Amino acid sequence: MHVLQSSDALGSLPCAIAVPIPSESPLVGIAKELDALLGGAIADILASGEFKGKIGESTLLHAAAHPFKRVLLVGLGDPATFSPSVMAKVAGTAVRTLGKRGATKLAIAFPQQAAGDEERCASFAAEGAIAGSFETGTYQSAPERAIAITETLLLSQGFNADAIARGLKRGVAIGEAVNLARRLALTPANDMTPTHLAAEATAVAKAHGLEIEVHDAAWAAEKKMGSFLSVAQGSAQPPAFIVMHYRGAPKSEKLLALVGKGITFDTGGISLKPPEKMEEMKYDMSGGAGVIAAMGAIAALKPNINVVGIVPATENMPGGKATKPGDIVRASNGTTIEVINTDAEGRLVLADALVYARSLKATQIVDAATLTGACVIALGHAASAAVGNDDAFASLFLDAVKDCGERYWRMPLYDDYSNAMKSDIADLKNTGGRPAGTLTAAAFLKAFVEKTPWMHLDVAGTAYVDGETAWSAKGPTGTPVRAFVHLAEKMAG
Ligand code: BES
Ligand code: MN
Ligand code: ZN
Repeated sequence: MHVLQSSDALGSLPCAIAVPIPSESPLVGIAKELDALLGGAIADILASGEFKGKIGESTLLHAAAHPFKRVLLVGLGDPATFSPSVMAKVAGTAVRTLGKRGATKLAIAFPQQAAGDEERCASFAAEGAIAGSFETGTYQSAPERAIAITETLLLSQGFNADAIARGLKRGVAIGEAVNLARRLALTPANDMTPTHLAAEATAVAKAHGLEIEVHDAAWAAEKKMGSFLSVAQGSAQPPAFIVMHYRGAPKSEKLLALVGKGITFDTGGISLKPPEKMEEMKYDMSGGAGVIAAMGAIAALKPNINVVGIVPATENMPGGKATKPGDIVRASNGTTIEVINTDAEGRLVLADALVYARSLKATQIVDAATLTGACVIALGHAASAAVGNDDAFASLFLDAVKDCGERYWRMPLYDDYSNAMKSDIADLKNTGGRPAGTLTAAAFLKAFVEKTPWMHLDVAGTAYVDGETAWSAKGPTGTPVRAFVHLAEKMAG
């Protein structure tokens, strides 16, 4: 989908206009102008109480006498709690509501609340429009729910057009990255093998001028990545260890490492998962997809910072060569791990990836992983867990992502959780029992980052969702792409 800017007069626009309407507020700005053009029809609807202006709500008005033909009122929510990211939901709702009705083009107006913050509002509007156009059904002979919109205009009249132009460009880059991550996650594991994920990463690198290395099992063996390889050994598909470099500050020592779990399918291995919802384990590479897509967006946005993206990709399968419960493996830093449960495989592949990030002299590390079912129990689908070993970096991270369109909630990393990961026979074991499963998993990872400032993001409940919203399809959400991009920009200053 194309997102463009338009300064055309309202009355002459040749496509449907989406107007954000805050709840319980008088009509102002473009909404008021349109209301006048429509002879008070918007005021009438608001007075009737049938449209309340809630986020995700919309009402269609026909206006046959005008070139735009239709006006879609879109809820902006409570104006007191407005933030720029609301514009992503407004734009997504508009694109999906009109797109499902067969419209191919629409124009989105800015609310008064955007005045003075046009760049961020335009960024979210563009991102939300693009993300709203995403649908599942890519494997259907005739996609059932396709969104027909091919062009979205952001109406700049009355606002800072230069700021809107800048924001629009940024939002397009983020929106496209979000949809890329979603497409990678949605692709079933028979197509999305580690080899294919690496090919997709290579295509991203090529499109955006990033350096990329795709390493094979022999390379990982040379690096003594026994933990990563212990997961891969049960699969007929070869693993891939993907490394992407963005060098936006060649003179700086600072290096942000983004590490993503790339399990292209998680059967549980010999500790086999039950069949129910196992098909969702094709999404177990969502963290890795987020890294690959975010690297593309970062390269497009060119912040002044060095970023390395690392994705250890493999299937987790049972098989004659698979790791067995009780096996002891050795990670690339020499740490020995007793594999109690082969279904706790994410931490095993991340362990070697985190050690590798440190070997590249990463000064900050953030990993994202669909790591624990416990995280879904703790936070549901409302937020990702954020766990870290450095309060200053945690604050920086939380500040960077506070209005990025994804939610992160910090959880503690007490020594108690590390104690739960001690093995009687090896340095560590890979499970710590039922209590605080998200945090014992994080404590396991902490052993591999040592003192490097690090944040671990458990996106098990947020990388994909069951239901659709007015602004977004069901299935993969693109989490953690937005957080990664916002963080890289924040750290670049
Ligand atoms: N990929 C799963 C975690 C997961 C579960 C993500 C449900 C999304 C939805 C992970 O590899 C896993 O199996 N974790 C185990 C760990 C346990 C064996 C300690 C879990 O959470 O049950
Ligand atoms: Mn697992
Ligand atoms: Zn997994």
